[in-house]
Amino acid sequence: MEYKIALIPGDGIGPEIVAEARKVLDKVCEKYSHKFSYTEVLLGGASIDAHGVPLTEEAIVQAKASDAVLMGSIGGDAKTSPWYKLEPSRRPEAGLLAIRKALNLFANLRPAYLYNELRDACPLRDEIIGDGFDMIIVRELTGGLYFGARKTTEENGVRTAVDTLSYNENEIRRIAIKAFEIARKRRNKVTSVDKANVLDSSRLWRSVVEDVAKDYPDVTLEHMLVDNCAMQLVRDPKQFDVILTENMFGDILSDEASMVTGSIGMLSSASLNETKLGLYEPSHGSAPDIAGQNKANPIATILSAAMMLRYSLDLDKEADAVEAAVQKVLTDGFRTGDIMSDGCKLVGTKEMGDLIADAIA
Ligand code: IPM
Ligand code: MG
Repeated sequence: MEYKIALIPGDGIGPEIVAEARKVLDKVCEKYSHKFSYTEVLLGGASIDAHGVPLTEEAIVQAKASDAVLMGSIGGDAKTSPWYKLEPSRRPEAGLLAIRKALNLFANLRPAYLYNELRDACPLRDEIIGDGFDMIIVRELTGGLYFGARKTTEENGVRTAVDTLSYNENEIRRIAIKAFEIARKRRNKVTSVDKANVLDSSRLWRSVVEDVAKDYPDVTLEHMLVDNCAMQLVRDPKQFDVILTENMFGDILSDEASMVTGSIGMLSSASLNETKLGLYEPSHGSAPDIAGQNKANPIATILSAAMMLRYSLDLDKEADAVEAAVQKVLTDGFRTGDIMSDGCKLVGTKEMGDLIADAIA
């Protein structure tokens, strides 16, 4: 089959890690007789440099015309990059939020899974790790604080900044349904995370989630306050199957969840709407400090490409092959710096991509 893939290399380590994911996808094409045609799309700093804005209409059209979008990372060093002298609405991150909104990507799935091989890279004690853990964070991605009205004003020399956290019940319902559907394919448990002891938006969240749960009597629902969840993720991560939460809490908790799997360089993500089109990106940022040095871990992007094969292209077998190749390379003892431990073989970004591509069976 032939598929159209929009590639967004982006900024920092983005171009390096996307190049490795593409290498792996090309190997999949070869082995499974598919054809992927790629269109490079500019986003973030790369788009600012070329067009003065972090996302153009043309980029949106290109993304919409494709079967799936695979992205690296966007953004630069806020202290030194000229991008951060621009108005906030013209900075790299604004482009990412705008493309999420333009494609209506309300469901962000972030699986956090501990590879047995990475136990040594996991910062938790052995008895806490136990047999390992395997959870998925289902983060609402187009609402909440990220998209509410914001402004900064100054009165009598005193500056005041306001951000708005707003959700309507339809936005909550559609993401809750996604979480319950996913739980059904896993271990039938949803932990809905909120701050219902303080926030109105969380109290509405809780009541809509409870309503949705009535249609899924086979799935266990529990509610957890976000501060407690942050603690439970390091106290007993095994308890989680599907974590359902709003945009900002999901941003924070997914970084924490990725760290307990050994490195943020391992966490993939899929952002989906009601159609097959999705945007796939690692959960980590653009790491400008190591950009261009062949040091970045490309695995999160390669695993994001596997999610793309599975969710947007319906190529399950091929997705399994990519995941198995990652597993094999880890079993063989190859590591990038972020997941390095004693007795393993240190490799760079390109070598890791080559090894995984070669392991595609
Ligand atoms: C993420 C990132 C983004 C977010 C930033 C770059 C705007 O941290 O995808 O988690 O906060 O959503
Ligand atoms: Mg984040």
